[in-house]
Amino acid sequence: MNTEEILATGQEKVMNTYGRLPMALVKGQGTLVWDSDGKRYLDFVTGLAVTSLGHSHPEIVETIRQQAGEILHSSNLYWIPGQVKLAKLLTDHSFAAKAFFCNSGAEANEGAIKLARKYAKKYYGSEKYKIVSLKNSFHGRTLATLTATGQQKYQEGYEPLPEGFSYLELNNLEQVEKAIDSQTAAVIIEPIQGEGGVNLLSKEFVSKIKDECVKYGALLIVDEVQTGMGRTGKLFAHQWLDFQPDIMTLAKALGNGVPIGAVLATEEVAAAFRPGDHASTFGGNHLATAVGCKVLEIMTREGFLPEVQIKGDYFKHNLQLLAEKYGLDGQVRGLGLMLGLEVGVRGPEIVNTCCQKGLLINCIGGTILRFLPPLTVTKEEIDEALAILKEAFALVFS
Ligand SMILES: Cc1ncc(COP(=O)(O)O)c(C=O)c1O
Repeated sequence: MNTEEILATGQEKVMNTYGRLPMALVKGQGTLVWDSDGKRYLDFVTGLAVTSLGHSHPEIVETIRQQAGEILHSSNLYWIPGQVKLAKLLTDHSFAAKAFFCNSGAEANEGAIKLARKYAKKYYGSEKYKIVSLKNSFHGRTLATLTATGQQKYQEGYEPLPEGFSYLELNNLEQVEKAIDSQTAAVIIEPIQGEGGVNLLSKEFVSKIKDECVKYGALLIVDEVQTGMGRTGKLFAHQWLDFQPDIMTLAKALGNGVPIGAVLATEEVAAAFRPGDHASTFGGNHLATAVGCKVLEIMTREGFLPEVQIKGDYFKHNLQLLAEKYGLDGQVRGLGLMLGLEVGVRGPEIVNTCCQKGLLINCIGGTILRFLPPLTVTKEEIDEALAILKEAFALVFS
């Protein structure tokens, strides 16, 4: 199919749930992607923080080839060696003792909410079921996770929503005590709100939440679907905030493009699930977990994560210089290679101009540019992206 046919047939045959740019990507190599007309772009979107090791990473390609020739899927009726290995790797590198595997971020958060409710019911009784999340958060599109998502626009039209969810204002220390009580089963937070606009949680805020959770026997769930797997320069972003969660969810970059999600929990919390309590047909299958193991192996090699921090600092510093030039001082935020720049209503215009000039970035809420390059991006590629951004700013703000 040529580009015209893809766009026309897509509009006719694919459900209209996304506001898409009129283009199709057909090939990728490292930080680069090519569209169906052969045009080259720097990919600073990475499928929304998914292809963190870049496109067609040779070791990932080889892992997929090898696993496809052995076995792809056998179901959780039997042990899956790759799943066992990935559970061991993830728990060795985190606070958690046990893992459950699924296929997406929403499914991981849905599983985390179910686990928290099971745990609360088992130890405290059926009155303890409430879930507290943050305003402006994003946790997924299933009914429970869109209800946990503190943004009304995602909930409209799907009422009645599941009961027992409430929302706390980001970094508002005074609200914390009022928001959490004996009926709270869990609080769910993203260490940096991704879809909410690259908003960082303060250490004091998280520490206060943790204290209240401990006081009332509520669990703290950290949603690392977007921030996890090295994105911020540590394997998990909550490690910047010095607190220990009870449950952590992962997805996106764990499979570098092969769908996978994970729920990680402490021994005590994980024990609330018994056989039959939760399941997923594809969850943790041979292919997804073989890739997950390889992703983790690469990301935990010596020097990989410090390099992400160095490149992130370099990119952030240069974005700050660009922002200052246009009177946008103080509008750059984020950690590692998860960065945002608030530019106001011209955001979509900047995205389109960058796209024309060969740089893919995205815009949150029509006002915040978000940069999610692969963690393997080179300094030269960051410089090339900055040069395009400078041209785009000059054009749009002239
Ligand atoms: C923090 C966070 N949680 C959950 C999700 C949902 O993940 P998925 O789209 O894989 O269901 C996302 C997706 O952007 C996310 O950023």
